[in-house]
Amino acid sequence: MTVPRATGTRPAGDTAAADGYDARPYLPERGGLAAHRRAAADCRGCPLYEGTTGTVFGAGDASARLMLVGEQPGDQEDRRGEPFVGPAGSLLRRALDDAGLDIDAAYVTNAVKHFKFVRPSGGGKRRIHKQPTLRELSACRPWLAAELRLVDPELVVALGATAGRALWGSGFRVGERRGLLVPLPTLDDGALHGQGLATIHPSAVLRAEDREALYQGLVSDLRTAARALG
Ligand code: URA
Ligand code: SF4
Repeated sequence: MTVPRATGTRPAGDTAAADGYDARPYLPERGGLAAHRRAAADCRGCPLYEGTTGTVFGAGDASARLMLVGEQPGDQEDRRGEPFVGPAGSLLRRALDDAGLDIDAAYVTNAVKHFKFVRPSGGGKRRIHKQPTLRELSACRPWLAAELRLVDPELVVALGATAGRALWGSGFRVGERRGLLVPLPTLDDGALHGQGLATIHPSAVLRAEDREALYQGLVSDLRTAARALG
């Protein structure tokens, strides 16, 4: 799943339209995933690019049958330029494996393409993950929409609440819908063919006191995904 990190050509100070957060001015008018990945490296559609190493675009096969959508890159993903290469990624890989799914055959991406973080109060170098706002989520959504349209997967697994909201809107509740096969949203430029399924985020397993129970729940949802793919 190694992809070369695209290097930007737009000047670093360039910002999005003054009227709001929006990635759309940065999307290429045509081209495939590679063209979109290159263009996303220059995205200034919201302030989240500030202080990061770069954009973490989706990675994997453009003809993948399965697409996985996480929340946003974490510290390690930001440094390496690839989604799910840190601790959450290791757990995800293991859970997919236990469910009979191969992450290397999937297209893996995030709802938001830059790492949002805060520094610990009192100073320090550590970067602590911070949840993206709805405004940042909708600013970044055109990239996700383009990936959905270009990959056109049979099944999209939303990992956690942010991915669920990016796909099905701000009222989406993972707790109510997890493990169920549901239709994908209709994009501005047309309907998608595949189905969707939401489950918990692998980081929620890492944070939980009862890790094993949450892990088994994640695997059980992913087994439903595996059955849907046949
Ligand atoms: N968490 C996510 O949601 N995505 C990543 O890429 C890494 C951690
Ligand atoms: Fe663009 Fe998304 Fe990054 Fe914001 S988070 S700058 S919209 S790629």
